[in-house]
Amino acid sequence: MTARRIGVVGAGYVGLTTAACLAHLGHVVHCVDTAAPRVARLRRGSVDIEEPRLAQLVSAGLRAGRLLFDTRLDTVAGCGIVVLCLPTPSGRGGAPDLRSVVSVAEAVAHVVTGPVVLVVKSTVPPGTAAALQRSAGDGPVDVVSNPEFLREGRSVDDFLRPDRIVVGGRRAEAVAAVVEMYHDISAPVIRTDWASAELAKYACNGFLAVKASYTNELADLCEAVGADVRDVTAVMAADPRIGRHFLAPGPGWGGSCLPKDTRGLLDTADRAGAVFDTVRAAVEANAHHRARLVRVVTEALTGDPEGELHGHRIGILGLTFKAGTDDTRDSPAVAVVQDLCARGATVTAYDPACGSRRAAAVDHDGAFQVVDEPLLAAKSASVIVVLTEWPEFRTIDWAAALREVVRPLVVDARNVLDPAVVTAGGFSYRGIGRP
Ligand code: UGA
Repeated sequence: MTARRIGVVGAGYVGLTTAACLAHLGHVVHCVDTAAPRVARLRRGSVDIEEPRLAQLVSAGLRAGRLLFDTRLDTVAGCGIVVLCLPTPSGRGGAPDLRSVVSVAEAVAHVVTGPVVLVVKSTVPPGTAAALQRSAGDGPVDVVSNPEFLREGRSVDDFLRPDRIVVGGRRAEAVAAVVEMYHDISAPVIRTDWASAELAKYACNGFLAVKASYTNELADLCEAVGADVRDVTAVMAADPRIGRHFLAPGPGWGGSCLPKDTRGLLDTADRAGAVFDTVRAAVEANAHHRARLVRVVTEALTGDPEGELHGHRIGILGLTFKAGTDDTRDSPAVAVVQDLCARGATVTAYDPACGSRRAAAVDHDGAFQVVDEPLLAAKSASVIVVLTEWPEFRTIDWAAALREVVRPLVVDARNVLDPAVVTAGGFSYRGIGRP
């Protein structure tokens, strides 16, 4: 492989993973981020993103002199490839806010000293790469779309062992340069045009959202007809046309990508005058499903699904949007906590990855606190609700928890616990989609 000098702009989940992995592959990587404190920490090898192997790869890259961090964009001036890993948060009406992508793309065009392939890794709507190319003109900048498919909690592994690499562009040489950048990674490469690459990313996340909403509605139906969602989904998973992923019901899907990208996909469809009712229904189903869980908990405590929860303390297990990450952005668990607080409950939560330092993200007029032990979340609780599928919840000492609670009831919205263990500890157990 030819080692290249590559610029990576943005040192968040995607950018830092990309920079560290490209350095691991042998490239010299100049990673730029405007957040000076973060850059200073990264230069010392201190990584504040919880991702397996990421800190080791950053340290190894720094030691080898192949990974350099800076706040100044002109440090990418001599790079033949510059990868944009900038946030594209939802803006008004669900359209992503592309301001940082557009302004950095323009700034890169000004600082580079020779031909550069500008790789857009950020999730952007179809048409973005073409627009960036139009504004760059026929000069030294070649725009290539190269969406990422990293999952939080597995980003390094997903980068180094991807299911596919998607490279969309107009000029074959620019596309080839990006494919060559991944030379040592063994994965099918799909070469395509800009719009197809951009839409492919939305299409994947939209489909995952549809599948997760389908699973959650299926779980509700299972409860209504006395079926067990674990058996029903096991039958579905045995069919390779359906696949085994995204068949675990939960409190709803969330995180920093699926909610944002379904909004972006729907906005794209609206602008194009196209119908995308399946994704719209999946988004609505997600909200209904979460509201249903709040009603289930409320009914268990008050006998009335619409009841008030004043005077009830609820113990929550799990705040992150899924296990294996410390991220609470757009977490369904946080949304459920907020809904319970809005009904008057007092909530005490425990999450293995997100201690009291994150409490401010969720605080609801003091009705919510985060504790650092699961048994503290059980203290004086009328119900314990599991909202994230952390495996360590399986080892909770339920007999000890029984001494803390005012009422022995567990609602397991992730089906992560073993009902036999929980009931042996003296609790009533209610899973999701189970008879
Ligand atoms: C998602 C995609 O899976 C990645 O491929 C994509 O690259 C990434 O977004 C992105 O766009 O950057 P991520 O946000 O890390 O990755 O989360 P997922 O693992 O997809 O989970 C999303 C949500 O679905 C979580 O709330 C999770 O708990 C929920 N989920 C997932 C379920 O409720 N049930 C399942 O069976 C699977």
